[in-house]
Amino acid sequence: MSDAIVELRGVTRSYGSPPTVALNGVDLMVEEGEILAIVGPSGSGKTTLLNIVGSLDQATSGTTRIAGHDVTRMDDADLSALRAHTIGFVFQQFHLSDGVTALDDVATGLLYTGTPRRERRRRAASALERVGLGDRLHHHPHQLSGGERQRVAIARAVIGDPRLLLADEPTGSLDTRSGDAVMQVLGELADAGTTVVVITHDLALAARMPRRVRLRDGEVVADERGVAA
Ligand SMILES: Nc1ncnc2c1ncn2[C@@H]1O[C@H](COP(=O)(O)OP(=O)(O)OP(=O)(O)O)[C@@H](O)[C@H]1O
Ligand SMILES: [Mg+2]
Repeated sequence: MSDAIVELRGVTRSYGSPPTVALNGVDLMVEEGEILAIVGPSGSGKTTLLNIVGSLDQATSGTTRIAGHDVTRMDDADLSALRAHTIGFVFQQFHLSDGVTALDDVATGLLYTGTPRRERRRRAASALERVGLGDRLHHHPHQLSGGERQRVAIARAVIGDPRLLLADEPTGSLDTRSGDAVMQVLGELADAGTTVVVITHDLALAARMPRRVRLRDGEVVADERGVAA
């Protein structure tokens, strides 16, 4: 047995007919506690891959094991439970609700876990502290910078202490400095033992990651280890 938390073998995902092939025979193993970047041109299959890893979408063929579970054999209830307890998402199109403070927004991340409200708010405050926003708990989205909003989205994704954090372009709309701050937060989570898979089109950011998986036309064309120069 390996310690792989993500184990994809020959994963293909196609849409419609005639089929658009978004992923074509992808093999990907990720060990617990790793942090890696998924890179590749627009349309190369990055989001499709992340959605399959996060069990939001299912492969057309191939095997997908997440945290030791074969997701093709799980029903919707088990998949929801896997997502609620094991996986945190930061979406490409993140959205913070207007009129909701950072604290309440993050606390909703625990809504479906049966955690009492007081405890949800206590843990939301601590998640916001983890991402360096301990002094922004009661700010509304329009009172936060883009980088701060992205860190709220990360806090919401990690409040349940997921083993696997998946982030789709978390630095996409940010300037270099805010992007660096977001990546630093992800690095700290990985140092604390969370497995982090992050999509980025920012090659300078990716170069500083210990592993880069490169997609092109739905295929893994490179899987590089070691921080690039
Ligand atoms: N629901 C869908 N129906 C049909 N085709 C789709 C669907 N979702 C994605 N695709 C196609 O699959 C391919 C991969 O899409 P995907 O969203 O994974 O790309 P991406 O690498 O995340 O791109 P970007 O960097 O622009 O976000 C694209 O060609 C896209 O048009
Ligand atoms: Mg995408």
